[in-house]
Amino acid sequence: MYRLIYKSRSIEPIDWDLVSAILETSKAQNVERGITGVLLASGTHFLQVLEGSFEGVNALYCAIVRDPRHDEIQLVSFSCVEERLFEGWAMHGLGLFNFNHELAQQLMATYGERDGEVRFPNQEWQVLAMINDIRRSDT
Ligand SMILES: Cc1cc2nc3c(=O)[nH]c(=O)nc-3n(C[C@H](O)[C@H](O)[C@H](O)COP(=O)(O)O)c2cc1C
Repeated sequence: MYRLIYKSRSIEPIDWDLVSAILETSKAQNVERGITGVLLASGTHFLQVLEGSFEGVNALYCAIVRDPRHDEIQLVSFSCVEERLFEGWAMHGLGLFNFNHELAQQLMATYGERDGEVRFPNQEWQVLAMINDIRRSDT
């Protein structure tokens, strides 16, 4: 089992319609390819976690990198892991622009801020900690 994390900058400002459009095509394809993960979106940037087989994750990442909807793609990590963290999530979208003020402030205080938005971390452990914080406050 492999996990890949990258971040990128959206060409267009991100709203929930854009995230939904990506998720709609992603979910069916990901189920077919045995991929699970999370797609985080701020108003300007994406951060995505992909989990699956080496070949599956690699091929999907190569397709995503070529997608004209984003650029400045930065690989955060690609590693062999024991198990999935996002079992059951064919691709779960989280729009940070939908979060309440308190959660957004808390994430900015912990992980840093850029142009009034949460800055996505450059390190795997910080990415996973951030997703954990979001999941905890979601429930
Ligand atoms: C930020 C972002 C995340 C994406 N995530 C996925 C994904 O998880 N699964 C997927 O199949 N496509 C995803 N896509 C779409 C792919 O880039 C591509 O458009 C899609 O796989 C269709 O490719 P195809 O025309 O080769 O079938 C994503 C695109 C963007 C911009």
